[in-house]
Amino acid sequence: MYNTEQEKFFLQQSKLWIANDPEKDHLDELKQIIDYADWKYYVMDNPVLSDGEYDTLFKKLKQLESRYPELITADSPTQRVAKSLTQSFPTVNHLVPMLSLENSYDANDLIEWDRKCRELSGEQVIEYCVEPKFDGASISLLFEDDLLLRGATRGDGVQGDDITTNTRQIRSIPMGMAIGKKGISLLEVRGEVVLTKEKFKQYNERLIAEGIPLLANPRNAASGSLRIKDSTEVSKRGLDAFLYHISFWQTVNGERPYQTHYESLQLLHALGCKTSLKDAKLFQGITEVIDYCAEIESGRDALPYEIDGAVIKINRIDLQDKIGQTSHHPRWAMAYKFKARQASSKLLQVEYQVGRTGSVTPVAKIEPVSVGGVTVSSISLFNEEVVKEKNLMIGDTLLIERAGDVIPYVVKSFPELRTGIETPIIFPVNCPVCREVLYKPEAEAVWRCTNINCKAQVIERIIHFASKDAMDIRGLGDALVRKFYEQGFLNTIDGIYHIPFEQMKGLEGFGEKSILNLQQSIEKSKTQPLNRLIFALGIRYVGETTAKTLARSINHLHDLYDMSAEQLCQLEDIGGKVAGSLVDFFSHPDNRRLIESLELSGLQLQNMQNVHHEGGSLNGKTFLFTGTLTMKRSEAEALAEAAGGSILGSVSTKLNYLVVGEDAGSKLEKAKKLGTVIILTEEEFMRLIK
Ligand code: IVH
Repeated sequence: MYNTEQEKFFLQQSKLWIANDPEKDHLDELKQIIDYADWKYYVMDNPVLSDGEYDTLFKKLKQLESRYPELITADSPTQRVAKSLTQSFPTVNHLVPMLSLENSYDANDLIEWDRKCRELSGEQVIEYCVEPKFDGASISLLFEDDLLLRGATRGDGVQGDDITTNTRQIRSIPMGMAIGKKGISLLEVRGEVVLTKEKFKQYNERLIAEGIPLLANPRNAASGSLRIKDSTEVSKRGLDAFLYHISFWQTVNGERPYQTHYESLQLLHALGCKTSLKDAKLFQGITEVIDYCAEIESGRDALPYEIDGAVIKINRIDLQDKIGQTSHHPRWAMAYKFKARQASSKLLQVEYQVGRTGSVTPVAKIEPVSVGGVTVSSISLFNEEVVKEKNLMIGDTLLIERAGDVIPYVVKSFPELRTGIETPIIFPVNCPVCREVLYKPEAEAVWRCTNINCKAQVIERIIHFASKDAMDIRGLGDALVRKFYEQGFLNTIDGIYHIPFEQMKGLEGFGEKSILNLQQSIEKSKTQPLNRLIFALGIRYVGETTAKTLARSINHLHDLYDMSAEQLCQLEDIGGKVAGSLVDFFSHPDNRRLIESLELSGLQLQNMQNVHHEGGSLNGKTFLFTGTLTMKRSEAEALAEAAGGSILGSVSTKLNYLVVGEDAGSKLEKAKKLGTVIILTEEEFMRLIK
């Protein structure tokens, strides 16, 4: 895509335009630098600019464009952002129907398919390309004259929905690409939109905090996201797209721009797209194909996104054409589906759990069943609406799915299997723990117990505070919190720091060693970073990600006391609902008292990360020191780390800065050769971290 010289040039120029104000004749260059930074970040997973540097350049481009609107081009990075809500998604025709794939499930299926392919093609041995089968939502993209003209969903395969505005929010999809240089005037490309497991988790975290039913799996999340009318929301979800097939091309000379499938992936990669190329491999004959399918399957859990199989394609396009297709699928391609992570089981009963915010969640107790290697006996049903929508009855047979690391969920019930002994699920009207009458705000789906002293809520708040992702107090788990509560040792969050351990001596189950371990982990929790403490407080709608955003933007927890909803809304990803909940929480005297008490117990209320390093512009940057420096190497490394950087052991494309002292040798040579590393003198380094 870019050669070393170009990469070096863009890096140098980016520094120049961060420090200086570009004029209108630099507008193209600025756009190219931002495109380059996007490509490094979203396609190559190897960022070259910090968030702050990127934002500065983006702002400068926007300012220039607002001064010279006649210079705005359709493929400018500023044009990704939609101007208004999409009203509807018009139906469009695909240039070529989007076919499905035939499925295979074991080696025999593949051997049989290979036999047919050889028979139809007349070849003795066929070269196959094997790549992952991405589990997301398929899309079709149309590029004309170097511009992304249209993005569409699969629809019925012949017609799909025009989702161009939403496809522009997927940063790994280029807004334009230089197909003209390759003699191509029109290109229709197929791919899969996916959500990484991490982004999916973050998104569900937001839903948990808002008490909204979770999305079942990244696949549903991806396909749902493509149809959202507010494209800024689409942008926030952080979707990704892998392209894996060229379905139509038009060239100036009429010649095909590639001869094999593998070459078509290389072409897309060279044009700046994220493709299946990285894990695509070529094999002569089916035997090795089968081995590689197994290899892809065993690496499935380690991938950052979900895959549900492998796709095997005949590599030579002339053979593909010879073998042809049915109305449903190409004969030259085959999906190899991994073992399903689904199982069926019986719904035995429904229990109701009261959460720390008083939400009452129905939980299905099922006959234990193994799903994808994990035994499942209990599944959240989220709320009353889900129970109704899925038409569940006690005694029903349920279909259960577990995608990757995701929590198991009920796909559906089988009403056709009912025998007449099934009984309806009746939602309680009183809190199952404190008997308070349950309440449901009109716009919400969740029933709540509004008694904040409800035993279940108090216990859940303490459990949440001590949990692994919050203050991580090892040893103070669910069961012990309940036990301490029942015995009167612990009934508030701050009580954790005043547990009367001396009264426990001699009590069954509290040996000296276990008490000592627990005391140590409680002590250790006092130095947890501020973001964990904010999350641990259990403020409604504040998940881990929001807690991090909040912690980053303050120096001390008390700073949140007086922040208005407007100020909070200025922060990344914080909307009116979250802001309102924060203002409520911090203005409540009981909560302030809790925070004062935690402070008195010696908890860390200051943001230590900001103490070391204001601004964070070097966050995530990598450094390496070489040659003789005036200070000790370890001191220099500590300075870089304190500024948010990390230290690498050798020169590679992952390295951002090489700091050179006297007599620098081979590392300097290598960095120069690479061209992507910024080389600094010790003095320049000191100025950088200032
Ligand atoms: S090739 C004409 N390659 O799987 C060939 N499809 O179950 C078009 N899919 O509709 C498809 N990963 O949405 C191909 N590497 C990959 C794929 C892939 C996922 C999807 C695609 C297809 C579905 C069939």
